[in-house]
Amino acid sequence: MFFSIIILLIFPHFVCATKWIEYTDSGFATMTHYTLPQDYIASCGCTGQSTHFPTAALNQMAFGSSTAYGPSCGRCFRLTLLNTFLSDPPFYPSVTKSIIVKVTDLCPLSTTGWCNATASGPNAGGTYLNFDLAFPSSSIPDNFFPSNVTLYDCTPAQDFGVWNISYQSVSCSSHWSGFKDTAALGSVPDLGDSVCCPANPMGNANDTCPSFSDQSGIPPNTTTSAASSRLGVLTLLGWVTALLIPLMYISPF
Ligand SMILES: *[C@@H]1O[C@H](CO)[C@@H](O)[C@H](O)[C@H]1NC(C)=O
Ligand SMILES: *[C@@H]1O[C@H](CO)[C@@H](O)[C@H](O)[C@H]1NC(C)=O
Ligand SMILES: *[C@@H]1O[C@H](CO)[C@@H](O)[C@H](O)[C@H]1NC(C)=O
Ligand SMILES: *[C@@H]1O[C@H](CO)[C@@H](O)[C@H](O)[C@H]1NC(C)=O
Ligand SMILES: *[C@@H]1O[C@H](CO)[C@@H](O)[C@H](O)[C@H]1NC(C)=O
Repeated sequence: MFFSIIILLIFPHFVCATKWIEYTDSGFATMTHYTLPQDYIASCGCTGQSTHFPTAALNQMAFGSSTAYGPSCGRCFRLTLLNTFLSDPPFYPSVTKSIIVKVTDLCPLSTTGWCNATASGPNAGGTYLNFDLAFPSSSIPDNFFPSNVTLYDCTPAQDFGVWNISYQSVSCSSHWSGFKDTAALGSVPDLGDSVCCPANPMGNANDTCPSFSDQSGIPPNTTTSAASSRLGVLTLLGWVTALLIPLMYISPF
């Protein structure tokens, strides 16, 4: 008895079920892109109008929840493209391109892939954050991602898929292009407590989302070993689930 109390005092983290990634206000990250249909209501439950402006999904363990909203919902970041590193040779664009996004979605944790960072280890790019940009988007030029047709002998210009970027946390009110459109701010109405999308989260308890998982309990891992051998299918299902869950919340039935 005495012994186990000592153990708990020395290793209090043993009783924690989840450790979210605590990230600094600026640093390096990887950036990918994904298809988010215009007007779609993603995991945070931000208004569909938010998709008319640059948005991104953040990897689950930094997002701060495995389902619905998390503390990163609504936060705005300046993302600056640095280089590609999967291409041969790596590509260092001659122009510096940045974009300011609002986090509206969750990129599910997987064992491999770009959203697999946990508090104990980074993704394959060596970073703890992956911003998955909703792209193409009516708010972002189709030629946003630079390339070099000559260097990579590729027409149309090669989509590198994964970028090394720097990120910087910024205030949405003075930076995000959607801030001037009130319909693009906040969450969809009448969904009880399953949505949370602050217009301008500043990290205070009264303007930052809690973790839906921590509040509602993280579902147990019910994956069977037979199913996990079909990882590609599972990863796809994870995405579909992430996209469908917010829809289920807004379903009137
Ligand atoms: C993520 O996946 C990469 C391989 O794609 C692996 O090298 C890395 O260790 C994984 N990270 C974690 C935290 O599992
Ligand atoms: C990303 O860029 C930083 C700064 O130039 C560099 O230190 C880091 O090695 C780069 N990472 C990758 C995966 O290219
Ligand atoms: C493309 O790459 C070639 C070879 O490295 C270089 O000479 C040229 O300036 C590059 N063009 C652009 C637009 O970056
Ligand atoms: C939220 O909390 C911050 C810091 O505690 C405080 O400055 C601010 O006035 C609060 N906002 C509201 C609307 O209560
Ligand atoms: C869930 O369980 C499966 C099967 O035991 C395992 O392969 C997978 O790594 C587990 N996933 C997590 C996130 O622990």
